[in-house]
Amino acid sequence: MAHLNIFQTLLIFSLLGASLGDKILFLLPLASRSHVHVFEPLMKALGERGHEIVNLSPIVSKNMPQTVKQIQLIKVDDLTGKIPDPFEQRKMGTLRSMLNTSSVEHMHVACIKLYENPQLYEVLKNEKFDLVIIDIFLNYCVLGVIPHFKAPSILVSTMAAPSHFSNIFGNRLQPSFVPCSFLKYTDQMSFLERLINTVLDSVFALRWDKMFVARSEEMYKKYLPNGDQLPNIDTILGNSSMMFMNSHFTLNYPRPLLPDVIEVGGMHTRPTKKLPKDLDDFLSNSGNDGFILFSLGSIVKAKDMPEETRKIFLKVFSRIKQRVVWKWETESMPDLPPNVKLSKWLPQQDVLGHPNIRLFMTHGGLLSTQESVYHGVPVLGIPIFGDQDLNVMQAESRGYAKMVEIIDITEEKLESTILELINNPTYVQKAQALSKLVKDLPQSPLDKAVYWTEYVLRHKGALHIRSAARDLNFFQYYVLDVTAFILGALGLIIYLILCCCTRIFRRTFSKKSTKNTHFKKE
Ligand SMILES: *[C@@H]1O[C@H](CO)[C@@H](O)[C@H](O)[C@H]1NC(C)=O
Ligand SMILES: *[C@@H]1O[C@H](CO)[C@@H](O)[C@H](O)[C@H]1NC(C)=O
Repeated sequence: MAHLNIFQTLLIFSLLGASLGDKILFLLPLASRSHVHVFEPLMKALGERGHEIVNLSPIVSKNMPQTVKQIQLIKVDDLTGKIPDPFEQRKMGTLRSMLNTSSVEHMHVACIKLYENPQLYEVLKNEKFDLVIIDIFLNYCVLGVIPHFKAPSILVSTMAAPSHFSNIFGNRLQPSFVPCSFLKYTDQMSFLERLINTVLDSVFALRWDKMFVARSEEMYKKYLPNGDQLPNIDTILGNSSMMFMNSHFTLNYPRPLLPDVIEVGGMHTRPTKKLPKDLDDFLSNSGNDGFILFSLGSIVKAKDMPEETRKIFLKVFSRIKQRVVWKWETESMPDLPPNVKLSKWLPQQDVLGHPNIRLFMTHGGLLSTQESVYHGVPVLGIPIFGDQDLNVMQAESRGYAKMVEIIDITEEKLESTILELINNPTYVQKAQALSKLVKDLPQSPLDKAVYWTEYVLRHKGALHIRSAARDLNFFQYYVLDVTAFILGALGLIIYLILCCCTRIFRRTFSKKSTKNTHFKKE
């Protein structure tokens, strides 16, 4: 648009419906690295479209346009550095560790720390926003910022929203076919699984509230200006304009969604770019056998890996024909076989897009599974915590992945799974077929997110697309009250009919029997 003057540009923007220079707050001070990666493409795209953005995040994102102002209230290591050893958590069990209150204690500590940063109060005092976009997952304790700015809000769920998030929009999920995000179920459940799914889904939602709501309310009411006048969390969340979920019906199980709950899964996926030279040489010279990418993500630190587990990986790698590039925090490792290269940092999508790749060994984080599908690479999933079990289950049920349990991993099991995934062509065929499917959309996930963000801005919170279901409670929503009434009424009618019948019956019977006795006497 270089040849247009500012008025023409403004005219075009207003015809397109987007107003230049809306002010948007990205509120994710308590987010892990992978959560931030979900937001970055949207932030960049909105910034490039001329919106003014303030980003409160524990990571300073690179390559952002000048319209994006970044403020780091706390560092991401303040947050993830104190998460208990993931391998220990795995032994404890996903559900138990997620519901363990002491595992969220560090979140509250981190939250107090961010409230002690004076930069926050500068923003609160000096800025005005037209929209707040918040990472809903762990940022409850800053929810008071939304009513402080009296702005509409968009909640972002970095995964397919668990029911306690989608309930906010009146978009209740049926436990009969939507598996709880932290269970290892697919969308086809036996009676027992549906029973467990239904109960645990509710238990989890209640427990989540208990872990976060009271403490978080207390915190923002204490620290924010005029905090005691801010509404409580239910009111703030219930007034949200929209939710973006990082899911895709092809990969996550299809589920009914209201128009204010929008799937934008895979916003961060992109075509491959050129690799750094030394890495490219290592991968390109892997020949016909190709190579394997091995990464356990950003939270799991390799140093936490038990020594015997590390040795199992090394021994198996030394026996296979493929080269292996392994994301590991140190430069070297004893007994490293020549076909294995360690790397502290990897441009994961560019490695996944390399033509020689044969397999991706991953913890099964959502972003990693989305990337492997986008680039059509089979997956060996080694889930550790959170939604990783579910992601790997979904990948398995889609036919492009197999799972290995880290706790009881053996050389034989690991080796046979790797060989199966590489030598049996069905896995790569499935992955490539899915890759075509996720790309076949009327609008890219990022364009979709930008469109609906500007939609909320244009229509001042878009109150018209709210479902009345938001205001119904559990019993009303599932018409349990009406069902109870109908059953009660039916019961009453049946009772009355029975009563009448018995009375009529008794009367006729007693008449007959009196006749009978008469007859006998005669
Ligand atoms: C919760 O986690 C802590 C350490 O993270 C552990 O000591 C404790 O036993 C756990 N509690 C339960 C009930 O699992
Ligand atoms: C609800 O959101 C609208 C904008 O979408 C805002 O104007 C209003 O103040 C909010 N109400 C409460 C109680 O926060």
